[in-house]
Amino acid sequence: MKRTIRDLVDLEGKNILLRADFNVPIDKVGRILDTTRIIAEIPTIKYLVEKGAKVIICSHLGRPKGYDIRLSLWPISLILMKYFPGKVQFSHKTVGDEVKARIESMSKGSILLLENTRFHEGEEKNDTKFAKELASLADIYVNDAFGVCHRKHASIYGVARFLPNAIGFLVETELNVISQALQNSRKPFVAIFGGFKVKDKIKVLKNMLSKADSILIGGAMAYPFLVATWKSVGISPASSESITQAQEILLEAEKLQKRIILPIDHIAIRANDRRQRAFVTNTLEENMIGCDIGPKTVELFGNEIRKAGQVIWNGPLGKYEEPKFREGTFKIAEILANSPCYSIVGGGDSVSAVNKSGKAKMINHLSTGGGATMHLLEGGSLPAIDVIQEGLE
Ligand code: ADP
Ligand code: 3PG
Ligand code: MG
Repeated sequence: MKRTIRDLVDLEGKNILLRADFNVPIDKVGRILDTTRIIAEIPTIKYLVEKGAKVIICSHLGRPKGYDIRLSLWPISLILMKYFPGKVQFSHKTVGDEVKARIESMSKGSILLLENTRFHEGEEKNDTKFAKELASLADIYVNDAFGVCHRKHASIYGVARFLPNAIGFLVETELNVISQALQNSRKPFVAIFGGFKVKDKIKVLKNMLSKADSILIGGAMAYPFLVATWKSVGISPASSESITQAQEILLEAEKLQKRIILPIDHIAIRANDRRQRAFVTNTLEENMIGCDIGPKTVELFGNEIRKAGQVIWNGPLGKYEEPKFREGTFKIAEILANSPCYSIVGGGDSVSAVNKSGKAKMINHLSTGGGATMHLLEGGSLPAIDVIQEGLE
């Protein structure tokens, strides 16, 4: 068992660097669409504040290439202020002397939210210098960013080598729930993959073949698989690399006698239609872009879900941010909510979509992790957890 914040003593006046996953869904102008990941972090922050620590929080948001004001963490500090009135400050810098001076002047039990770690080139490269700069801000490092624990980035992985460390309450809960789901795995085990992080998640999908009885694939994840089965996808995204991987996965599934179920109809638009009118189609013709699964696919997927013992779902099945492309995701959320299976939905966007569908209360576990949760469920380990010190038994 990893060391948790409960094992830390004498926190009063100590500088704690808390890594959170505030990678929340946002719209084009930077408005926050779902606060689940922020709310989930409150118990850990509250505990550290009550112990009198100076809580220095860092997180990434989105996938910026350098500084991008739309991906600033400033709006998140406004939400934190509602929970901790008078205690929260925001720093436009992530590291450096200015930040150190701010920390120096902070009172015990207050909070400083740092700017997006991904504005720094060193973050995703797991650069030692950047990790050390982050570490130099604090006495102790706490990892409570469950959703990003599958990444080997400086602020979640590299930094842990330079400070005494522990996990927070959110990571602890997520690890417990997911390990229980793995131990008591009920059959048939159905995995649903969607979303748009095809490059990342296709590997996880491959490994999931040995665990799941069937895999349902929607969202942008489906197009490489459709191409691999000689279906036309119009101009929906499908890179040659992902098509090759999809072919390998389909062959492997056949060998293992596992079922991969793909969309049989779509909600699409025509690239040359300026009004972007959505329509249902069985085939994605040359100039069409798939944006959601169609009603026949909902039924096809629904039949699998109704028979399942356990369902794990990551990735919306369409561009749910737009009302005309959310029906597929919402209907599947409804079917899942009304099914007798044990259900886990994970991922920033997936949880946001299920919240929007109004069915969230009937899902057994809403996980803050997308890639991280799927990675654990396919039997992998999380590098950012592995680097944390063991606790006393
Ligand atoms: P999560 O945050 O739950 O892990 P992802 O970040 O992988 O999920 O995927 C969410 C994104 O996938 C959403 O922004 C959604 O618009 C996009 N998406 C879903 N289906 C499609 C599609 N058919 N084409 C393009 N993007 C899609
Ligand atoms: C997520 O939303 O899955 C995590 O915050 C990780 O984000 P990333 O896929 O951009 O690394
Ligand atoms: Mg996402």
